[in-house]
Amino acid sequence: MAYETLIVEIDDYVALIRLNRPDALNALNAKLLGELADALAAADANEKVRCIVLTGSEKAFAAGADIKEMSEKSFVDVFTGDLFTPETEALLRVRKPIIAAVSGYALGGGCELAMMCDFIICSDTAKFGQPEINLGVMAGIGGTQRLTRFVGKAKAMDMNLTGRFMDAAEAERSGLVSRVVPAKKLMDEAMAAARKITEKSALTAMAVKESVNRSYETTLREGLLFERRVFHSLFATEDQKEGMGAFLEKREAQFRDR
Ligand code: CAA
Repeated sequence: MAYETLIVEIDDYVALIRLNRPDALNALNAKLLGELADALAAADANEKVRCIVLTGSEKAFAAGADIKEMSEKSFVDVFTGDLFTPETEALLRVRKPIIAAVSGYALGGGCELAMMCDFIICSDTAKFGQPEINLGVMAGIGGTQRLTRFVGKAKAMDMNLTGRFMDAAEAERSGLVSRVVPAKKLMDEAMAAARKITEKSALTAMAVKESVNRSYETTLREGLLFERRVFHSLFATEDQKEGMGAFLEKREAQFRDR
């Protein structure tokens, strides 16, 4: 399916979704968010996809929610329309792993979108920020919540209150991103990480994603119980027999997602 604000390519079991509003630094307007929700749901349902990479341009992953589109909205508009809820819920429903490949600006909703992915690989040019306070509002899709869990209260308060940007080195040091690579290597690194994931059992990868995400929703005790039960349940799969058997036979495992 062709999109106006996205470029989607599927190759070798990886769906690469590129945000494509170059004139607005990939600002997240309603059209883009709707198309993104649609593209993610399609990738999640597609048997030819085992991992998703979400990226932007070299200059901007996304510079936030579209300020032009929001500027005239009233409280009644955003509350009754439940601004951003359906699209963010759609992203969180995706069960396959999503890697954010971030170059340049990831600000406001752009930073929040990257944080909704499963992990972030960024280029050394990346800049993360929650500058909504400069617009007389605050972060609305995770900038005060996910960011606080990822980098801690001190940095989350600093970024949300001063609006300052965090560079790639600080983002890696703070645990916001998993890897920083030179800008020219970003897509190679992100695609290689995605391909590594496609070699695993897709079923097991889904279980891992669900279990790590659970740690943000529950107590340690409940999270550990959830993890153990999922771990136990994987012994009912053919992929567990194949993975362990292949190790013992010193050969590559051939997972069948069963
Ligand atoms: N919404 C709409 N348009 C945007 C945009 C945004 N968030 N960010 C950039 N643009 C547009 C600019 O208006 C400009 O368009 P025109 O050429 O038509 O004027 C174009 O993109 C290029 O931007 P700049 O000329 O500003 O580029 P720059 O290199 O000088 O600056 C920048 C880059 C620092 C990222 C700057 O564009 C900027 O500060 N953008 C806004 C960042 C921001 O405040 N984001 C938070 C949005 S609110 C939000 O996201 C709420 C939420 O939590 C969900």
